[in-house]
Order: sequence, then structure tokens, then C-alpha cells
Amino acid sequence: MFKALILDQNSDGLAEARIQEIGDDRLPEGDVTVAVEYSTVNYKDGLCLSPKGGGLVRSYPHVAGVDFAGTVEASTDPRYKPGDKVVLTGWRVGEVHWGGYAQKARVKADWLVPLPEGLTTRDAMAVGTAGFTAMLAVMALEDHGLTPDRGEVLVTGAAGGVGSVATAILAHLGYEVVGVTGRPEQEGYLKGLGAARIVPREELAETVKRPLESETWAGCVDAVGGAMLARVLGQMKYGASVAAVGLAGGAALPATVVPFLLRGVNLLGIDSVMQPFENRQRAWERVARDLPMDKLEAMIQPATLADLPRLGADILKGRVKGRVVVDLNA
Ligand SMILES: NC(=O)c1ccc[n+]([C@@H]2O[C@H](COP(=O)([O-])OP(=O)(O)OC[C@H]3O[C@@H](n4cnc5c(N)ncnc54)[C@H](OP(=O)(O)O)[C@@H]3O)[C@@H](O)[C@H]2O)c1
Repeated sequence: MFKALILDQNSDGLAEARIQEIGDDRLPEGDVTVAVEYSTVNYKDGLCLSPKGGGLVRSYPHVAGVDFAGTVEASTDPRYKPGDKVVLTGWRVGEVHWGGYAQKARVKADWLVPLPEGLTTRDAMAVGTAGFTAMLAVMALEDHGLTPDRGEVLVTGAAGGVGSVATAILAHLGYEVVGVTGRPEQEGYLKGLGAARIVPREELAETVKRPLESETWAGCVDAVGGAMLARVLGQMKYGASVAAVGLAGGAALPATVVPFLLRGVNLLGIDSVMQPFENRQRAWERVARDLPMDKLEAMIQPATLADLPRLGADILKGRVKGRVVVDLNA
């Protein structure tokens, strides 16, 4: 028997969460059974935990948790054996497939990544989908020619999950990082992660009539989208790239194509959910190498299964700070 946070519908059809002891026979089909050690809380988890499942959960009873790390307990796939440390993000686990908010998960071997040396299962969930996606964004910028000598790199939504990890990775790699934040009180935190300077959100929040402004940024990790992304495109240096990760500021893109045509600017889309295995493995290995874990430690907020309904509601209201690490054995 193991503990799981089971979401089930009440007589009004609304999902309620309850910690239950269940047996392995309740786990979904899959080739690898993992003893989950840590999970985390993402915006998507907030949606899945909400009374209507945020339009993501297809059937109940359900176990949410879009990412987890743990130790393989049993495997019918030759790539994994008991005792292997693994991490999982994406593949709609926690949305349509049972996820990480339980002491055990059963998944397809294809969805797992072996934990690279140097990372613990707790580290992996302190990084989580947000940090993994930040790494994918940095890799995409590098693959398109970004090097530290090319100039300042902008990170929007810098005090958020993706932004914080992107800031720490880029600074560690020797980049001059400029963080955009709407929370001036987070300046000390962002400089602690390695940001060289801060740009207040208001300075980039609105579009301007001119499609091109002075060439300022050598690269950008954008977690905000919307008007801010449109504005940033017109400020990129010749041939520079923006990695579009998120839509915290809106999904519409009120931009012109002029930066693409006159400055050869690249807009790179970053998806973490369906990312091929080789790239996932490369990203986790880079996380182990290029993310200073001591910096990450300062952002960690520990939690247990019992805290999840509250944290799920909080994250939807923008009230969660730092990285939540859920200890399944606490
Ligand atoms: N592409 C993928 O596969 C993938 C994976 C993970 C996440 N995401 C997306 O990436 C985005 C960031 O995720 P996250 O986990 O970092 O979320 P988060 O922790 O909520 O951070 C988002 C940050 O964006 C800024 N922000 C929020 N509302 C804003 C607004 N109206 N205008 C301008 N800035 C605003 C805030 O930064 P400041 O407080 O510093 O201003 C906030 O901390 C989300 O949209 C998420 O859905 C995408």
C-alpha cells in the first residue's frame, strides 16, 4: 500500500482531493513503476488540482503532478532496472495519465530520463519543469549562435520559476544577464542569482509604433509573451534570437515582421512537453553541469502531499514564491 493524493468528483461533479492508501493494482498501465521521492507545483498542477480540473484532467479518480523524480522499483523495459534514479516531465503525465502526487507512479519507459550524475531526486524537482524548460531555452539560444561576448541577454518574468533558473544558468555560463521584473523588491534576489541589472516591467510593458528600436539584446529568454515579447523583438541585435517559453503576460503577439526581415531576428519556440528523448537527456545533463545548486537552494519551499490543495490554489493566484519541492515521504 502507498499514499496518494486522489482527486475524485463529489455529487456536484467537482473534484476534491483526499490522501488515501491504495495498492499497486490501482496504478495505470506502463512499463516502469517508480517509487516517487519528490514532485513540485507548476501552474498546470494548480489547474489539475482545481475543482474542474482546469480543462486538462479527462477522468476521475485522478492523481495530478506533472513532474516527479524517484527510484525505479520494477521495470519490464530493458532500459531501466530497479534502483535506477529517474526524472519525468511532460508527456501529459499528471493531466491525462496519473502523475507524481503519490508515492508510486507507473509510466512508459519512453517518458523517463535517467537522472544525470551530480543531481539528486530533490535537486531535480527543485529544477522541475520550469527549470528544465529554462535550460531548453538557453540551449536553443546557444544553438543559434549566442555566446557571452555578444552582449547583454534579457530574461523576462525574471523572478518567476523559468526566469529565475534561466538567470542563474546564464550568469553561471558567463553571460551578462538583465532581468525584467514587475517586483522591484526582488532585485536583491535576482542579483543573488547573478543578474547584472534589472529593468522594471513598465519599461517594456507596452508596444511602440516604431517596429525597430536601438539594437540592445544579444539574446532573450521570454517567459511573458504578449506586448513585452513584441517590444523586445524590435530591440534585438542583428541576427539575435528570442526563445519564447511562456505567456504569463498574454498569448497575443502584437508585433510586426520587420525585426525578422531587416535584422534577421529569430523567434524560437520552446516546448518542454513533447521534447524528444535525446534533447531531454542533453538538457538534464546541462542542468547538472551549468546550474549552481546552491543558488537554487535559496528558492526552495518544502511541502508535503497535505499542502498541495492549498498550494494548487495559491499558484493560480500568483501567490507561490520560489520553487516548491514536495517530499512524498514526509
Ligand atoms: N513552453 C513550455 O514548455 C513551458 C514550460 C513551463 C512553463 N511554461 C510557461 O512559462 C511561463 C512562466 O512559467 P513559470 O513557471 O516561470 O511561471 P511563474 O513562476 O508564474 O513566473 C511568471 C513570471 O512572469 C512575470 N509576469 C506575470 N504576469 C505578468 C504580466 N502580466 N506581465 C508581465 N510579466 C508578468 C512575473 O515575473 P516578475 O515577478 O519577475 O515580473 C512572474 O513571476 C508560463 O506562462 C508557463 O505556462 C512553458
